[in-house]
Amino acid sequence: MKITIVGAGAVGATCADNIARKELAEELILLDIKEGFAEGKSIDMMQTAALLGFDSKIRGVTNDYAATAGSQVVVITSGLPRKPGMTREELIGTNANIVKGVTENILKYSPETIIIVVSNPMDTMNYLTLKTSGLPKNRILGMGGALDSARFKYYLSLELGCSPADLNAVVIGGHGDTTMVPLIQHATWNSVPVTQLLTPEQQEKVVKATMVGGATLTGLIGTSAWYAPGAGSAAMVESIVRDEKKLISSGVYLDGEYGQQDISLVVPVIIGKNGVEKIIDLKLSEEEQAAFNKSADAVRNMNGVLADMNLLS
Ligand code: LAC
Repeated sequence: MKITIVGAGAVGATCADNIARKELAEELILLDIKEGFAEGKSIDMMQTAALLGFDSKIRGVTNDYAATAGSQVVVITSGLPRKPGMTREELIGTNANIVKGVTENILKYSPETIIIVVSNPMDTMNYLTLKTSGLPKNRILGMGGALDSARFKYYLSLELGCSPADLNAVVIGGHGDTTMVPLIQHATWNSVPVTQLLTPEQQEKVVKATMVGGATLTGLIGTSAWYAPGAGSAAMVESIVRDEKKLISSGVYLDGEYGQQDISLVVPVIIGKNGVEKIIDLKLSEEEQAAFNKSADAVRNMNGVLADMNLLS
């Protein structure tokens, strides 16, 4: 198994670190445009192998796409991260051109690959990758749902005083501060609905905190988060590589599911060796569907910018 991560920034490097520790790849390529950057991070990570006891090989390269040839999974993390006060959507001007170029280069050498898109604004970047790659929709997944669902579980765990790993909870919709839809009515603590354990005020607090989870961290750290985004993408890679068929909220192209068409949004999907094995078309309440539709409108607007930038031709 060969895996490539494009972008050796904090998210890309953390994803690589997780993949190396889990020994998911015989060969892991970390690529960056900055001379020596991916090489340096790869050597640093390889020097943890003796300490942590993993047997993975990570190789860093500077813009050398030939080195990525034959990758079965590629994670695209390239582009600018958010600065405090910035929305993910404000990154589109820079990141859309970068993501399109990366996708084209990757496909030259790995036409059979499955692509996981992390770059922001994630829903629109995932749509762009799908449209410009011409790949079947099962081979393009957006990271964002895995991350937002993990944040949702974290905030639920604070209110419940429990372990986040004991919770089942998903976020759907867009990966944006105002577009994500944490499905609190469906969340459980080992099958017990959290709505029976938390007051309406607590539930509202958790939902709100989840929605601005990324912005909160950007405010604290001064740039985008990386531990959970890196772990979220690695979890998706793991489900593909080990054909785990895990149910993970992910950005996927919708063709009628959830009443939406020609758009990429986050919904629960089963991830296996073919990428998206199945989209779970969850029955939503009227209120949840309305929130999802609102989110679709916002993402569709953002996708319109791609056409304005002449990137979809
Ligand atoms: C976040 C970025 C990665 O939510 O979108 O932290």
